[in-house]
Amino acid sequence: MLTSIKNNSFQYESQKLGMMYFRVAAVLFGAQLLMGLIAAIQFVYPDFLYGLFDFSVGRMVHINALVVWMLYAMIGSVYLMLPDETGLEAVGIGLGKLGFWVLTAAVTVVVLVYILVQIGPGDESTIWLINEGREYIEAPRWADIGIVVVVLIFYYNVFFTFIKGQRTGIMTVMVANLLALAGLYLAGMVYTDNISMDQYWWWWVIHLWVEATWEVFVGTLAAYALIKIIGAKREVVEMWLWIEVLMLFGSGILGLGHHYFWIGTPEYWWEIGALFSALEPVPLVAMFVHVLYDWGKEQGTHGDKPAIKNGPAMAWIVTNAFGNFLGAGIWGFFHTLPQVNIYTHGSQFTAAHGHLAFFGAYATILIGMMYYGVQRAYGLERLKASFNSKMAIFLITFGVLGMTVALTIAGYEQVLVERAELGGGWDAFFTAQLLPWMKQAMVWRLVMGVVTFVGFVYLILDLLTIGKKAQN
Ligand code: HEM
Ligand code: HEM
Ligand SMILES: [Fe+2]
Repeated sequence: MLTSIKNNSFQYESQKLGMMYFRVAAVLFGAQLLMGLIAAIQFVYPDFLYGLFDFSVGRMVHINALVVWMLYAMIGSVYLMLPDETGLEAVGIGLGKLGFWVLTAAVTVVVLVYILVQIGPGDESTIWLINEGREYIEAPRWADIGIVVVVLIFYYNVFFTFIKGQRTGIMTVMVANLLALAGLYLAGMVYTDNISMDQYWWWWVIHLWVEATWEVFVGTLAAYALIKIIGAKREVVEMWLWIEVLMLFGSGILGLGHHYFWIGTPEYWWEIGALFSALEPVPLVAMFVHVLYDWGKEQGTHGDKPAIKNGPAMAWIVTNAFGNFLGAGIWGFFHTLPQVNIYTHGSQFTAAHGHLAFFGAYATILIGMMYYGVQRAYGLERLKASFNSKMAIFLITFGVLGMTVALTIAGYEQVLVERAELGGGWDAFFTAQLLPWMKQAMVWRLVMGVVTFVGFVYLILDLLTIGKKAQN
């Protein structure tokens, strides 16, 4: 992945820029995992880094790095597919590169401030210079504005290249969806002193990203990747894509109601949230069937040549189909009805779902796209999985599943003891935290976190070497 910076087989600058985004994404993914490990150690040994590095800061960097590396990998994927789908170089490629450097410099400064300054006085200056205090999207206001400018440059590139070039179904969905995805970010920039109102708008970003626009985004990526990797028929994948778009928006938009149960919004959200969010797993099943159907169908149609042109990318895309269905569909459905959510709300159960869903639905396919980028950068007809590729996918997936199981058990204990038995007060919380089930679960989460991290090391090793090895 690194040696491909100078010598690469890309015909288009846009695709090189895509690889630049992938590299930063991989670094931020590593930072995310390290911060997760620190936070997980602090659950088990509360004295760890006491007074030096607070749990709240590690947790904040963990989940903000998560969102940012995924956005980087998403932009990278779009720059990679843009010339393939439109048949053209990105119209404003120079500006696109400038945007990349500005964004990367800003992200570096923001992360350094998070880690070194950590907290501010809690007035306006904190919001502008240190962090905004909105979980997952905590960038300070100056960086918020910078992000908007860079995203406008990105969108300009995508939109005008699309208008000038060939307009495939995949790109049509991509262009429309990106407008919604980028536009929603603005909802997280409105500041109000009223916490209910603040949360009300903040969910527009978080929920309408991960359960509507990001899902449509990975649907388009899967469609593109299946054409490239197993030679799936465009008419078939595009037909699926339109069905998924319809269903995802149909349930995902009003599914927003499942976050409006207890934040001070009117009670009609109980019914709306219950009904529409319960329907959300349906499109996820469709996406699951889509990938497996295309995979199975294309298997036998390539004579004696293997149908899969990129082993590791395909493995990650299939993991995505399972992971999205399990993490978002099943683990999401578990706690989405208000009758259940009143017990599970904000427990470790939420964290179990958060981990499996973000991993299953997004990390997997974005890693798959990085492998596809490597194949293109080295101009390889085929890319076979290496030992490192197998170790990476096995350890990362096993690690995240392990963490999810541990957190689910911890959440179950909280529901039974803290919520059902003791009524959910302050004392109830601490009683539940001190029971052996909780403590053991936190140890297992840490162990499985280390497994995940080892898998990540294999992943980086693989991305750095697999292309060169395959060329020889
Ligand atoms: C890939 C898609 C998804 C991702 C990445 C995701 C991620 C998350 C995360 C990180 C949270 C915790 C937010 C917080 O900090 O408070 C959350 C909460 C929640 N999610 Fe999802 N989710 C996804 C899809 C779904 C689906 C499809 C459903 C329902 C069928 C669902 C149901 C819920 C519910 C009910 C909560 C609130 C939990 C609570 O009360 O604490 N999610 N989700
Ligand atoms: C080395 C592996 C990892 C470790 C040790 C780890 C650990 C942690 C810890 C300790 C927290 C704070 C939980 C709390 O506040 O109670 C957390 C939150 C979170 N992590 Fe991880 N994590 C790891 C990997 C990941 C991965 C791979 C993803 C997704 C791709 C992820 C997504 C999240 C999310 C979404 C939250 C917020 C959950 C919520 O509040 O509901 N983490 N993680
Ligand atoms: Fe949601």
